[in-house]
Amino acid sequence: MDSHRLLKIGLFGFGCVGQGLYDILSREEGLPYKVDRICVKDPNKLRPLPSESFTYDWEEVLEDATLDILVEAISDASEAYTIVSEALRRGKKVVTANKKLVAYHLPELLALQNEFGGVLLYEAAVAGGIPIIRTVEEYFSNEPLDRVHGILNGSSNYILSQIFKKQKAYSEALKEAQDKGFAELDPWLDVAGADSRHKLCILTAHAFGRTLSPEEVAFFGIDFLDQQDWEFAKQNESVIKMVASVHQTPDGELVPVVLPSLVDSTDDLYGVEQEFNGVVVQGVYAGPQLFKGKGAGGHPTGAAVLSDIVSIANGYSYGYKKLNKTTNAPALALDFQFEVYLRSSEPDLVVELGLTNLQNVQRGADSFSLIGTVSLGSLIKSQELIRKAGAYVMALSSDFVNANVKKVRERVAIS
Ligand code: HSE
Repeated sequence: MDSHRLLKIGLFGFGCVGQGLYDILSREEGLPYKVDRICVKDPNKLRPLPSESFTYDWEEVLEDATLDILVEAISDASEAYTIVSEALRRGKKVVTANKKLVAYHLPELLALQNEFGGVLLYEAAVAGGIPIIRTVEEYFSNEPLDRVHGILNGSSNYILSQIFKKQKAYSEALKEAQDKGFAELDPWLDVAGADSRHKLCILTAHAFGRTLSPEEVAFFGIDFLDQQDWEFAKQNESVIKMVASVHQTPDGELVPVVLPSLVDSTDDLYGVEQEFNGVVVQGVYAGPQLFKGKGAGGHPTGAAVLSDIVSIANGYSYGYKKLNKTTNAPALALDFQFEVYLRSSEPDLVVELGLTNLQNVQRGADSFSLIGTVSLGSLIKSQELIRKAGAYVMALSSDFVNANVKKVRERVAIS
């Protein structure tokens, strides 16, 4: 691609990310990139640009040979899948911000690139403005990693910050996250942990060379968080953060999970507030490194898309070095044990989860809370039941690997 001439971009979607990119390119006049066509779905929707700026036929935009790079920034993952896979079938250079699309279809998207010679980059899909995919893919390409974990959803982190720091109600904080453009069209994805799960699947492919299907990853959210849960956190001098984590056991198996967790002031993630994300990459040799930045919002995410545009223009594509090196995909460590807090109104869940080492925290008229030990396999198997029961599950520490939760257990024992 000739990087001296003005490169034309075909943009699909004009929501938070699309507008963020458009705005950045309008302000940064000297850049050799121009949004030439914007394709949206609904001709009747009120938009910040005149209607002549838009086109409505996505196939026509795919066929437009004058476009150099296609940017997919629509929220519907199945429509995004149709557009991106068709574009790759035509050997196009594509940037997407759609994490659900990449999480569910990565192996196929890779095969399409190999077969038809197109390129797909998706830095904006994970942790918004933090350049975490390229960091893990390039900088850590030759160093084995022990663990990658962090806060990967800006909306839920914003909500938790508002609850803990500003004493706001959950519903008010969620409304704010939606108004500020952080939340997904369906905010359940944010608060239930599903969006973090999608991002974790993508990170795992680059960090550990294993494509996880989202169904393999247990996810728990803050949608059923209650006052007694954050009182419990406060009693333990902690806040609650939604932590997505994948680590490798000494046997080489993987432990991927999304779990709200108690985080105290000694934790790297403690100071990651509002819509910020924080990702700790723990190299076997480098040790832990914290990457912190805005995880949601039009400008941070648009900036990540712009960075992908520049990279594609310069001929970059992901090497998938760890994925290509791995001959036997690591299995999941289903026996791995977590120390968790459970609040529910259904005692059967304790049996269903196979919780051991039980300690009672509180017993109310229609709900109880306790702490116990549970395996990854049980979390995966019982997660749907837990969601249906409206129960809240939380790790006693974000450090699942070396969790020293003795202090929490001792405090519960004497209270
Ligand atoms: N809804 C997402 C979040 C947007 O809150 O993190 C960025 O992926």
